[in-house]
Amino acid sequence: MSRHAPYLREMGLVRWRYSAPAPGEHGSAAAGSAAAAGIQPQGARKDLARLADEVARCERCDLHSVRRNVVFGAGDARARWLFVGEAPGAEEDKQGLPFVGRAGSLLNAILFSIGLSRDEVYIANVLKCRPPNNRDPFGREVQECSPYLQQQISLAQPEIIVAMGRFAAQALLETDQSLAQLRGRVHQYKIDQLPLVVTYHPAYLLRSPSAKGKSWEDLRLACSVMS
Ligand code: URA
Repeated sequence: MSRHAPYLREMGLVRWRYSAPAPGEHGSAAAGSAAAAGIQPQGARKDLARLADEVARCERCDLHSVRRNVVFGAGDARARWLFVGEAPGAEEDKQGLPFVGRAGSLLNAILFSIGLSRDEVYIANVLKCRPPNNRDPFGREVQECSPYLQQQISLAQPEIIVAMGRFAAQALLETDQSLAQLRGRVHQYKIDQLPLVVTYHPAYLLRSPSAKGKSWEDLRLACSVMS
């Protein structure tokens, strides 16, 4: 049995054959405040470290008063792939890291199914603070927080962005089109002219496992951009 089999099974993709894209040469983690993140002062990392420190002090919206930790991002700041989710949940708020709860386990499996590990990608959210009770982000929260994501992207300069879920897709593409309308083609993230593929949020896939096949199609589309 291939070492990828358990991950593909968790993805519900037992019948898919794994073929690994070549990951780049990548390094260490970057998350939370710069110090906590262990971001090395080097190029994009140095500036992301500064940005992480700024975001750690952010009080632009009311979420700052209910957060335990700011969740800035994690992974390799110079990664070729950037995955963007919606907002931290309870576990992420507790640990100060994105996608460390159940949705995070599925994201790990999704990454593994295309031959990537968390260390080889960069992961961020639209909102850096947890909305109470995991409610949907308010428009004004997205508005206040989006400039941070835009700066993260400009500093990290990934080769592709995968927007997971409606909020990430709509915020990055500045549209109110539905996820169904946005899936299935390669968009352009206009600010940095980067290819962007829209897919389901892992939390949605946990609730609706039958959508995993479509999510696999999205990932293959993203892989085709990167091959
Ligand atoms: N859902 C998200 O959108 N982001 C996280 O970091 C965790 C769950």
